[in-house]
Amino acid sequence: MLKSVRALFFCTLGLTFCAALSAHADEPIVIKFSHVVADNTPKGQGALLFKQLVEQRLEGKVKVEVYPSATLYGDANELDALRNNDVQMLAPSLAKFEQYTKQLQVFDLPFLFDDLEAVNRFQKRAKGRQLLRSMEDHNIVGLGYWHNGMKQLSATRALRVPGDAKGLSFRIQPSTVLEAQFSQVGASTQKLPFSEVFNALKSGQVQGAENPWSNIYSKKLHEVQPFISETNHGVLDYMLVSNSRFWYSIPHHIRTELEGIIDEVTYAVNKQAEADNQADRQHIIDSGRSQIISLTPEQRQAWRDAMQPVWAQFEEQIGKDVLKAAQTVNRKHRE
Ligand code: LMR
Repeated sequence: MLKSVRALFFCTLGLTFCAALSAHADEPIVIKFSHVVADNTPKGQGALLFKQLVEQRLEGKVKVEVYPSATLYGDANELDALRNNDVQMLAPSLAKFEQYTKQLQVFDLPFLFDDLEAVNRFQKRAKGRQLLRSMEDHNIVGLGYWHNGMKQLSATRALRVPGDAKGLSFRIQPSTVLEAQFSQVGASTQKLPFSEVFNALKSGQVQGAENPWSNIYSKKLHEVQPFISETNHGVLDYMLVSNSRFWYSIPHHIRTELEGIIDEVTYAVNKQAEADNQADRQHIIDSGRSQIISLTPEQRQAWRDAMQPVWAQFEEQIGKDVLKAAQTVNRKHRE
């Protein structure tokens, strides 16, 4: 009921979308799915599985075109392209929505989630699900959360304790939380699109970065970063999003089928992501190009102590309710 009221609302708002769909009722609906990572990553695989299932089950009705590795749009313009309906599906990292909602910054807070399972629990609870709707005023609807994995710190020098990062410049995603996180350890930051990270590290424009194993391996970042500290200090996950007007203008029976496929793909991506990241961790070890540094519990605690003040800095804008809900999902509950 709620969905059909919403559909009517968006249809009224977006008459051009509805008209476009009915005027070409025999033509398949085209969903362009653009993203910035390689095919052999959790997100890349998810996009391809979505395409495969849609084309099996909605043949002739919906066509999916996948554009990986920023070949169509990159970080700087993909959300504008979505809002203009130049692409219909994206899965940006949760760090890339700051312009549209501050609530999602909760996912960037360092050492908030102990592991991917905790992240998963938060995403499934009411507060986490509410955040999928936090950008509807901007014509962006969240369709699900996809995991990549926990981030590791890589650099030109071995990072064991927070003081080791002092004076280095780190590439970050466009997130003020991440900027603050590095400033806590005396490091500077540069916000760069993902497609520029390899060259920025290779040329020495920046000396460090943070990424899950799958992004490091698939973009060969380990070949230009001699040290990777296994910090698991934060999460890099995605929100699968569409243009709200486009989405709610899709005929109900087709949209329902698409939603079922999305649930299936989301389950598959999230079940596989951790294993893929661990496999890529091993590939990096086997390559011999980068040394993986394991932290002692005391060293990890020192990073946590140094970075955690960032929570209080952002609590107001994220919302106390959201932060509180996120703090209850770890197995070992901490305040
Ligand atoms: C990054 O910019 O580091 C990531 O958000 C890329 C991605 O989509 O995984």
